[in-house]
Amino acid sequence: MPFQNSSSWTRKQKLILTGVVVVLLGTMTVFVVLGLLRVGRKKTPTAEEQQWKGRGTTEHLVEIVLGRCYNFITTINSELRNKDCLRVWKLFEQAFLYKDPCSMTKEDYQPLMDLARYSIPCNKSLFWSKTYDLAHHYTKTNHDFLTLEDTLLGYIADGITWCGNPSDSGVNYESCPKWTECENNPSSVYWKLASKMFAETSCGTVQVMLNGSTATGAFRKSSIFGSVEIVNLNPEKVSKMQIWLMHDIGGLQRESCTGHSIAQLREILENRNISVSCEDNYRPAQLLQCTRNPNHTACTVCS
Ligand SMILES: *[C@@H]1O[C@H](CO)[C@@H](O)[C@H](O)[C@H]1NC(C)=O
Ligand SMILES: *[C@@H]1O[C@H](CO)[C@@H](O)[C@H](O)[C@H]1NC(C)=O
Ligand SMILES: *[C@@H]1O[C@H](CO)[C@@H](O)[C@H](O)[C@H]1NC(C)=O
Ligand SMILES: *[C@@H]1O[C@H](CO)[C@@H](O)[C@H](O)[C@H]1NC(C)=O
Repeated sequence: MPFQNSSSWTRKQKLILTGVVVVLLGTMTVFVVLGLLRVGRKKTPTAEEQQWKGRGTTEHLVEIVLGRCYNFITTINSELRNKDCLRVWKLFEQAFLYKDPCSMTKEDYQPLMDLARYSIPCNKSLFWSKTYDLAHHYTKTNHDFLTLEDTLLGYIADGITWCGNPSDSGVNYESCPKWTECENNPSSVYWKLASKMFAETSCGTVQVMLNGSTATGAFRKSSIFGSVEIVNLNPEKVSKMQIWLMHDIGGLQRESCTGHSIAQLREILENRNISVSCEDNYRPAQLLQCTRNPNHTACTVCS
């Protein structure tokens, strides 16, 4: 049936043509977007670029930050659905692009901080120090609590690295300064500001998960928690801090709620009119530790 054949050929050709147009349009869009967002400018490494001891800027930074932002405002906290993620990325990028990664200032990030600010419900803030895994595991299973990394600013930057380069593409993909190399590096300044904002916006009863198995003491004044967060809690909004002092299951119990560094923390908070309670091995969090150590005596049902 020649007629049918020719009509199916036409359909096929139409399909191919449509396919080609779609691919072309798609490619053009990608290039336009990439151009707008200044990505993909990774250059071959040069000796000067490997000047720092830390990991370089995470590859696909723009896709990660943008994707996380959209994920956050769409599936994690839809009250923020009107936040402009493209602008979040732009302000994030502008903060460090082409800048010397040891001379970052809080002004660099101020526009981003202002854009990303929102209020956190009372009683939900969970601070942490040296308990990253357990604290985040806990907030993933219990949505009554939020860590900084469960807020927009913490979420978009969790686990990634970024820093500027005054020349080339403006981004250093080879290396970035470690916290110990210079204090005012892009990550340190960012995390201090985001932590400060998290503490300032906290209210009601707040909690902190500390590590009672570390050699350096569960509470350290030099940590972000000790140097940024507790000093930025507003005693007019925050009435109480609950300390959850966690020990590694089967590990050393170097400090308990009666320990020296906990007493120091208690004193600092009470002087600021914030009352304190402390609980060793807060059971709901300990049960998560127990999923990896089901046979340990601390994990048996009636311990
Ligand atoms: C926060 O906790 C306090 C004390 O337990 C309680 O009185 C208050 O209603 C709680 N606030 C919210 C918003 O849940
Ligand atoms: C306490 O700190 C040690 C060393 O950093 C770490 O290996 C351990 O997982 C931490 N424990 C908890 C409960 O977070
Ligand atoms: C703490 O509260 C008491 C009584 O409510 C008040 O007199 C004192 O000034 C407060 N201290 C601080 C540091 O706010
Ligand atoms: C826990 O104990 C049971 C029974 O004694 C044993 O079969 C199981 O392999 C143990 N699990 C772990 C993780 O050690």
